[in-house]
Amino acid sequence: MNNSDLNNFDIKLRLKNLVESNNLQQIKNDLKQMRESLKKFPADESGIIEIISNDSVVEISKKFLDGEIQQILETKTLERTHYYLKRLVKSVSEKRTGKVNDLNLNRWKEYDGIITDSLWIFKKRDSSGAHNAGYWGNFIPQIPNQLIQRYTKKGEWVLDPFLGSGTTLIECRRLGRNGMGIDINPKVCRLAERNIAEEKNPFKISSPVILADSGKINLHSEIKNFGIQKVQFVLMHPPYWDIIKFSDDESDLSNSGSVEEFLKSFSAVLENCLKILDKGRFIAVVIGDKYSGGEWIPLGFYVMKEFLNRGLKLKSTVVKNFDETTAKRQQKELWRYRALAGGFYIFKHEYIFIFQKNK
Ligand SMILES: C[S@@+](CC[C@H](N)C(=O)[O-])C[C@H]1O[C@@H](n2cnc3c(N)ncnc32)[C@H](O)[C@@H]1O
Repeated sequence: MNNSDLNNFDIKLRLKNLVESNNLQQIKNDLKQMRESLKKFPADESGIIEIISNDSVVEISKKFLDGEIQQILETKTLERTHYYLKRLVKSVSEKRTGKVNDLNLNRWKEYDGIITDSLWIFKKRDSSGAHNAGYWGNFIPQIPNQLIQRYTKKGEWVLDPFLGSGTTLIECRRLGRNGMGIDINPKVCRLAERNIAEEKNPFKISSPVILADSGKINLHSEIKNFGIQKVQFVLMHPPYWDIIKFSDDESDLSNSGSVEEFLKSFSAVLENCLKILDKGRFIAVVIGDKYSGGEWIPLGFYVMKEFLNRGLKLKSTVVKNFDETTAKRQQKELWRYRALAGGFYIFKHEYIFIFQKNK
């Protein structure tokens, strides 16, 4: 097969011809040939090939196509073969997306990288591009990456009211979403701006960084500056109360004097964000618990209750493995001893709670 043959290979046409045939053996022979031809299509680094379907070019995963053809080859009856063929025709020619993301449900098998289980275990953090682990207390980029893909469409707006070093906005740039980030600490805002500027901006999206207290800022007027009335997704990664002290600012949540005060300040931010979140859209919070005075303090569940009290629908509780920090690693033996002696378990997880605002 040379280049011009590849350019003339119309997958939808070929598959439709097979759907019209009633000769199972013939169909399978043609499919085997098709499979061989597809092997010759050059794929990009993520395994995507460009192929003609119904006279227009579609991008499709080579692995997905091969898997689908293999499945058809394994069928025993003509009826089943036709069923799978028709499904594949749809996959290569029709896009079926939901209201809150761009995932094509006709090709759902292609999305190998999207996690649908509630236990997230990441062996290492993504440190590609502008991502770096330099800011103590930042989250791993895979968290915003997963959530943005599930809960937003290209060109929509994401709000991160606890921006830190800018991880969410870097992911927004990669995925073609506009992202607004707010942080109370001027130094951290400058760090975020530097980090974000290092990331390419292929989709020409906006990534404003705003220095403010997220519990007090007037978000309506802030987003108006960008010509929008609402955002489509909110991702919150607050301080886990006082586990890490982020600044000396008394409005910084990490300086809350008690758990009640922490929850009150957190709720002020939550209510502020909810005002500008579109109805029916999603808001997620990443939070861990705390151990203090010989007691496990379930910060995560306290925070969850603040969402439920405001009528949000809980859509998922995700448990994510917790990176061992260098400090914890050095003290590993000591912590193990303490746990055995003190009757508790050492933190190895944090939560991602995902809620939906009523329609
Ligand atoms: C856990 S960190 C977020 C880290 C971020 N996800 C990242 O990847 O870099 C929490 C951030 O919240 C900020 N913060 C604390 N209180 C705040 C408030 N009232 N308004 C805005 N930001 C606040 C802190 O300065 C800190 O950078």
